[in-house]
Amino acid sequence: MEELHHLLYTSIIAPGFGPGCVVDIVRVARSRNRALDITGVLVFDGWHFLQYVEGPRSSIAALTASLRKDPRHAGMAILLEGRAPGGRRFSDWSMGYATSGDDELLLRFGTERPAPPELMGAFSRLLLEVDMEP
Ligand SMILES: Cc1cc2nc3c(=O)[nH]c(=O)nc-3n(C[C@H](O)[C@H](O)[C@H](O)COP(=O)(O)O)c2cc1C
Repeated sequence: MEELHHLLYTSIIAPGFGPGCVVDIVRVARSRNRALDITGVLVFDGWHFLQYVEGPRSSIAALTASLRKDPRHAGMAILLEGRAPGGRRFSDWSMGYATSGDDELLLRFGTERPAPPELMGAFSRLLLEVDMEP
């Protein structure tokens, strides 16, 4: 079986794209992630994205390549990538989608950049403060 890899990154919605495009992103993400055996969660605050994905190494590599060339966001900053120790964290979500009305929440997370050992703990705590969307 392929090694489980993960990716956590932040980015900013590109000029000219509105929150409406995020609905399309999530719809496509859910079906492509099922095909790629990827699970994860996307948080959007109207301005910033923060996304965690996990899956087979080759699937995460393919998605990373797609994300890097997607014109709908910019300034992709990778916080964590590589082997995902301890198994899947979001096995029930092909792509959970959460929003936050607090546009400082993701900004703080991106700029404070907790050190890698604390990163997933900090991310889990952030998820307690967002609103999961259907
Ligand atoms: C913030 C953001 C998050 C995305 N998340 C995913 C995702 O989880 N899965 C996915 O397949 N595509 C996701 N996409 C869309 C991909 O960038 C890409 O458009 C899509 O996977 C099709 O890939 P392709 O253009 O290489 O064919 C996301 C796009 C953005 C801007």
